[in-house]
Amino acid sequence: MNEREKILVIDDDLAPRESIRMILKDRYDVLSAGGAREGLDIMGREPVDLVVIDIKMPEMDGITALREIKKKYCDTEVILLTAYASLETARDAIRFGAFDYLIKPFDKDDVLLVVQRGLDKRRANTGLKMERDKLLNRASYLEEQVHKARNNIMTCYEGTVKALILTIDAKDHYTYDHSNRVAELSASLAEAMNVPRKIIKEIKHAASIHDIGKVGIEENILRKNGRLTFDENEEIKKHPSIGVRIVQSVPFLEEAIPVILHHHERYDGMGYPGGLRGKDIPLAARIVNIADAVDAMMSARPYRNALSPDRVLNELQGNAGTQFDPEIVDIILREKVALV
Ligand SMILES: [Fe+2]
Repeated sequence: MNEREKILVIDDDLAPRESIRMILKDRYDVLSAGGAREGLDIMGREPVDLVVIDIKMPEMDGITALREIKKKYCDTEVILLTAYASLETARDAIRFGAFDYLIKPFDKDDVLLVVQRGLDKRRANTGLKMERDKLLNRASYLEEQVHKARNNIMTCYEGTVKALILTIDAKDHYTYDHSNRVAELSASLAEAMNVPRKIIKEIKHAASIHDIGKVGIEENILRKNGRLTFDENEEIKKHPSIGVRIVQSVPFLEEAIPVILHHHERYDGMGYPGGLRGKDIPLAARIVNIADAVDAMMSARPYRNALSPDRVLNELQGNAGTQFDPEIVDIILREKVALV
């Protein structure tokens, strides 16, 4: 059986206080207090479901006490007792959170009805609060699960990227070192461009596997010392689409696809494989394109020496708007982005 609900009657006048207690005592546990301070002391010691309080009292009036009660115990319903003369005050008190009021002299049935309705409201509010707490608990549990799942995906993601990088390394160590440097430089460029942190991370991962398609190119072409013939060059040009075929079956690597596919597009539309022009080339691919070219220029080749940083900057400037995105070149020059 449910515990009986607790009602506190506060009135400095003994007669109405006792009369309300007598009306309610068979259905509820009734406590009584001869003043607002005494009533608040009782509420500090034990929970009360509903308070019936007189408006006109010495020391602390019922309205002040009502505001105090609502501040400390917002779920406790309050019913005001008022003489006909203070009816307006009682009506005004509804906006301070009083549930209702009873006019003296009160009728037994009215008291029972108003108290019953006040308790119904409290029960409904408590039920809603419990439901809300349950939902909040559920939401935080789900949030935790999502966080765990995201961490698992990130672990898989990092592991897969690492496996792909090691695949490149096994095939061609130069491409592996080159890819790592391109990843670092792409991240620095993206940072100088104020790209959001999450996107910088995606660009860095994509840059580290931008040449993954080279695992599908014959080794004698990849490792050839000297300039490539036309046919060999055509063969090399297949590596972006081979790269896409390799990663497209891994759903969480799809952000890397635009970089893998378009890192050899040129700003003037003369690149490959799509011949995309200007801003039609995805931003991440434009960034990686510059980082890729910078690293290639700064690496020694069998047929030429490494270019100095000043010479590389000149090349970037000279080819801004044709090979490279001029805005990114401007940022490199303005922000003095370290190229090594
Ligand atoms: Fe490439």
